[in-house]
Amino acid sequence: MSQAALQSADLTITERENLRVLATTAAERSYSPYSHFRVGAALLLTDGSIVTGCNVENCSYRLTSCAEQGAIARAVAEHGPKIRLRAVAVANLNNAASMPCGACRQTLTEFGDDATIILYPGENGAPKETTLGELLPHAFRPEHLEPHHSRTS
Ligand code: THU
Repeated sequence: MSQAALQSADLTITERENLRVLATTAAERSYSPYSHFRVGAALLLTDGSIVTGCNVENCSYRLTSCAEQGAIARAVAEHGPKIRLRAVAVANLNNAASMPCGACRQTLTEFGDDATIILYPGENGAPKETTLGELLPHAFRPEHLEPHHSRTS
């Protein structure tokens, strides 16, 4: 299977379940003494690696790092700058419907594409699935910087 086909291929039920469980386990390590909203994220990279993260809050409030951001930083630190995202699972321990915030959508877009699968808890914890392209259409992407860098005239 080509890399492109691999990226757009659906996840198996087992892969989905595994990502959800790993995101939930990561949420158990959340540092969230202010919101008490414990979030975990599990990234499935295109090479098959899985990297997790959790939210880390700060008494300044504004320096809080979301679970997805933490997971991305860890994925780059562990696997290098060429990582690409096949899927992202987000979970929380608060039985709340929740999906990546706006800032995290932009952060995920840096390493994903429109086909990147996003798994998240809907109402009553129902497992829901969407894509990064649905969550952040018309995104600002690294390639938008290119014309300025490559302009010769
Ligand atoms: N949070 C995340 O970690 N990820 C999201 O996608 C939404 C929000 C965290 C940030 C903060 O620690 C808490 O949830 C409440 O907003």
